Amino acid sequence: MAPVIEVENLTLWRDRQKVLDEVSFQLSAGSFLGVIGPNGGGKSTLLKVLAGLLEADSGRVRILSLPPAQAGARVGYVPQETGFNLAFPITVLDVVVMGLLGQKLNKAERKSRAMAALERVGIAPLASRRIGTLSGGERQRAFIARALCGQPRLLLLDEPTANLDPKAQEAIYTLLKSLQPEITIVLVSHDIAHLIGYASEVVALNRRLLHHEALPSEQIHCAQDGHVCEVELLGALLKKAECG
Ligand SMILES: Nc1ncnc2c1ncn2[C@@H]1O[C@H](COP(=O)(O)OP(=O)(O)OP(=O)(O)O)[C@@H](O)[C@H]1O
Ligand SMILES: [Mg+2]
Repeated sequence: MAPVIEVENLTLWRDRQKVLDEVSFQLSAGSFLGVIGPNGGGKSTLLKVLAGLLEADSGRVRILSLPPAQAGARVGYVPQETGFNLAFPITVLDVVVMGLLGQKLNKAERKSRAMAALERVGIAPLASRRIGTLSGGERQRAFIARALCGQPRLLLLDEPTANLDPKAQEAIYTLLKSLQPEITIVLVSHDIAHLIGYASEVVALNRRLLHHEALPSEQIHCAQDGHVCEVELLGALLKKAECG
């Protein structure tokens, strides 16, 4: 089976700055990829290219063997900044239905697809609430439902747990894990401890792709307290990056 994502020598310039530099990687169906890297490292830019919102200056990108702009509803995208005016008087259901733009469905079908997505993320009872009245964690679920209602094969999420408390973060990770492997997941996050627990592989990006590694199915633990030891993983990643 062809990989869900194929990226070969992707280079992208913004304002005379090379933001992505010869990035190459592949991702097979059912994976859960964590993307880490410093601020300004190009993580959001990479996701926008995969979502078909930005075009590479050079290189080749394929999503399910198609150019990203043609992958359409096969890809769901939860951006870092939703750009949503929370004062706007719009219901959660209306926000989720927006994920079906461009699809030939009647009103009843749109509603039932959006309700199914809200069920999937666990906030169906909030469908008729105004989006601005939701908590941060509930709102993030609504945006995930919007990305899911087109029934994507690939879900791209850009820091969906930023600004959430630890319990809400954990709940989002558990939700994403429940979508995989049916849906391939790419998640940008600075939250390395959670990524180690949930992702099946990790990419470290700082304009260049520094490292791409499958994570062990059993978590890395510190001997003393049983917690995931992000320091060990980071140390291993950095050592390999230096060697490479
Ligand atoms: N619209 C734009 N015009 C010019 N430069 C841009 C634009 N958007 C992003 N950049 C630049 O591209 C680089 C990568 O930005 P990007 O948003 O992809 O980083 P990031 O890894 O997502 O960072 P963060 O962790 O802070 O979200 C940065 O130097 C940024 O200033
Ligand atoms: Mg970003």
